[in-house]
Amino acid sequence: MSTISTWINEAAKTPSSITPQRIASLLSLTGEEAEYLRNAAYAVKCDHVGRIVHFRGIIELSNICSKNCHYCGIRRENPHVERYTMPYDEVMSAAEFAFQSGYGSIVLQSGEIQSDVLTTRIEKILRDIKTMSDGKLGITLSLGEQSAETYKRWFEAGAHRYLLRIETSDPILYKQLHPQDGYHRFETRLETLKNLKALGWQTGSGILIGVPGQSFDSLAQDLFFLKNLDVDMIGMGPFIPHHQTPMHTMSDYDPAVQLHKGLNMIACARLLMPDINIASTTALQALADNGRELGILSGGNIIMPNITETKYRGSYQLYDGKPAINENAQRSRENLQRSIESIGETVGFNAWGDSQHYLKRHKT
Ligand code: 5AD
Ligand code: SF4
Repeated sequence: MSTISTWINEAAKTPSSITPQRIASLLSLTGEEAEYLRNAAYAVKCDHVGRIVHFRGIIELSNICSKNCHYCGIRRENPHVERYTMPYDEVMSAAEFAFQSGYGSIVLQSGEIQSDVLTTRIEKILRDIKTMSDGKLGITLSLGEQSAETYKRWFEAGAHRYLLRIETSDPILYKQLHPQDGYHRFETRLETLKNLKALGWQTGSGILIGVPGQSFDSLAQDLFFLKNLDVDMIGMGPFIPHHQTPMHTMSDYDPAVQLHKGLNMIACARLLMPDINIASTTALQALADNGRELGILSGGNIIMPNITETKYRGSYQLYDGKPAINENAQRSRENLQRSIESIGETVGFNAWGDSQHYLKRHKT
């Protein structure tokens, strides 16, 4: 047996035996070896979290953002974006749609704003969604960095999972990806992630894969960073340039390479952290029609269908070619269920699908 397959088998059997150097080598695999890696990770997924995919209906509440990340299409300084905030009634109907469709959980996502008005508005929405669904709809938030007080209020109002990507665990690369305007501090982000964990949230993080200046070693470090942070969930996806951002060009940009890196990252994450929830993100689907299915077959177990009203989709373009712009929520659900079942997986309807890792942590 080749050295590579021995490493992969060892990693699948004993995740603690794997080193960052080996992960960096695995990330660079192509062809049949990459196939072997992804199949092994898929087997680990099946053993630890089952042949089941959970949906999180994502509602993009608002594209107003105080930040100016160099890579993102809705950054503060993009004047071409028509800014919106969904009215309360539309948020509630989207949540109701998710509940009626048996999605089990929703994600409320938006650009990053910190204000008392927002804290109170979200608090009300959370309480009302809980009442509407008789406490049955799980709620994940992805609303950026907030104070511990705000996180506490939102947790008490009924949300229980929070996603905050670190974007990269390398502080130098972090500085290259973000302006130095006082709004983008690596240390603050790290602190915030630790606050979330300490406050009892089921915590998710992740990174941007394949940005300029990022080596396989750096990506391997990212995975170890997430493991050391003891995350319950990972949401990470390939970087895709947006034409109205400072990172609109990337000299060696190749969608096939980005997809490949994204899948290898999911596979290595699954080998390292067998019992967490790993999203097969929309950015994969932007790179290939079956990108999200490939993400599941590489070890992912969560899909986040967009259930935001179609009229807002064009204004929430984080990257060029973000899919489903003209697809309504109902069609996405049917398409998705069919394609998930076609790869031999079932959809975990009407269940929260909490991270096994989190459940174990909380038992002990
Ligand atoms: N390509 C891929 N992902 C992006 N994000 C923002 N801009 C891009 C892009 N150009 C991701 C960031 C952020 C999440 C909401 O979207 O990682 O955390
Ligand atoms: Fe705002 Fe998030 Fe985009 Fe950064 S990545 S500009 S925080 S929406």
